[in-house]
Amino acid sequence: MHKPLHIIILAAGAGTRMKSRVPKVLQTVGGQAMIIHVLDTALQLRPAEIHVVFNPQVPEVQEACSAIDITWAAQAEQLGTGHAVLQAMPGIPEGADVLVLYGDIPLLEADVLRQLIELPSAGLKVLTMEIDEPTGYGRIVRDADDNVTGIVEERDATTEQKAIKEVNSGIIMASRSVLMSCLDNLASDNSQNEYYLTDVFFIAYEKGIQTRAVVAPVATDLEGANDRIQLAELERRYRMKKSTQLMQAGVQLADPQRIDIRGKVEAGSDVFIDVNVVLEGDISLGDGVKIGPGCVLKNVQLAAGTRVHAYSVLEGMRSLGVCDIGPFARVRPGTELMEGSKVGNFVEVKNTSLGKNSKASHLSYLGDSSIGDRVNIGAGTITCNYDGVNKHRTVIEDDVFIGSDTQLVAPVTVGAGADIGAGSTVTKDAPAGQLTISRAKQVSIRSWKRPVKK
Ligand code: UD1
Ligand code: MG
Repeated sequence: MHKPLHIIILAAGAGTRMKSRVPKVLQTVGGQAMIIHVLDTALQLRPAEIHVVFNPQVPEVQEACSAIDITWAAQAEQLGTGHAVLQAMPGIPEGADVLVLYGDIPLLEADVLRQLIELPSAGLKVLTMEIDEPTGYGRIVRDADDNVTGIVEERDATTEQKAIKEVNSGIIMASRSVLMSCLDNLASDNSQNEYYLTDVFFIAYEKGIQTRAVVAPVATDLEGANDRIQLAELERRYRMKKSTQLMQAGVQLADPQRIDIRGKVEAGSDVFIDVNVVLEGDISLGDGVKIGPGCVLKNVQLAAGTRVHAYSVLEGMRSLGVCDIGPFARVRPGTELMEGSKVGNFVEVKNTSLGKNSKASHLSYLGDSSIGDRVNIGAGTITCNYDGVNKHRTVIEDDVFIGSDTQLVAPVTVGAGADIGAGSTVTKDAPAGQLTISRAKQVSIRSWKRPVKK
């Protein structure tokens, strides 16, 4: 029978090497704090409890994780990773298994952790990786029988040890009792005067406790980000991972190196995404959706066949049928575009529903509006939804024709089948089926003389 699994995530480090006011574990990869990535992975293991070690002087970490059920363990002074783990131990019951993760390993996946969990051993276990450039990592030293005799930190390593390419991912596992018995003997007699968690391996080996290591199949998934250079490298890798997943799901990417995915993307078949597209939040793309170059989409649902043309910015909107958006369109939250509708160039739409086959092809602002079916919105139309204090709605019923350069001063309703003459400022409801026009009558002055220069 499995013992209850308690996961400790270390997140109290200052992250000095980032040279940032933002705590290290809140630095983002793919638009999400590194610690949230780690928590997401930890949750997949269905642990009995997740304990996060944090620095009480940095409450932002707790705020950023408030949506997740966490037992917090404060580490008031950053005396090292071993000291950090000790802060969480009082919250862990006897008889539990303990898995230690670091908050700065965002690409970590649950499968590799399962390999560590399932490795049979009554002692200490560590997840390691083999890398060509081991600088900065603790080196794994093994005996002739492959037991881990110790983990040597870079700063404390001999030249020979520095050449070892198997390194510590930081992820270790043991029963609570084994871990505690080793932590009790920790000392800080090293180059940084810190209590290194890694020393539990020396201690265990000396005590005759079994010390085993699993080499991760994909080393790069376990890399931590200590500085901006590593962070950018993880970002690049995260992007490649996400774009590979999309291509595996059947999406055609013009260039997998030139797409940024910072959220969850669901896509149907034969979706095409051109270069330099940014996808954020929750994105759903129906079959055959086409996204032009340079588009930014955040929390967007596009029905099958929708085409988003170049350089459009879409947020919090959805299309419910085939429709055209852009180029250079800005579609803001609360917008719904029905089958056959069109939001053309330099058109901004906010909190508006645009009915079937309705078109706003050029240079318009449509805000807080309900627009029926088969409506034509002329170039330069503006819904004046804001009186300086409150927002008001504009209702445009089916089959309306709005002439170019019209201002609709909300609250206002244009009845079904009405025409609005170009250049009108509509301040009162326009009756159905009639022409409403509010511009001044056109006059021509026959005797007009252009002024001449004196
Ligand atoms: C650590 C390991 C190293 C390993 C590497 C993998 C030790 C001594 N070294 O080095 O063997 O190869 O990770 O990425 O463990 N933290 C605290 N409190 C502290 C110190 C750190 O909570 O007092 C947290 C940090 O927030 C971070 C994690 O522990 O999430 C690791 O600390 P970090 O300073 O990044 O250790 P590394 O130098 O990377
Ligand atoms: Mg680190």
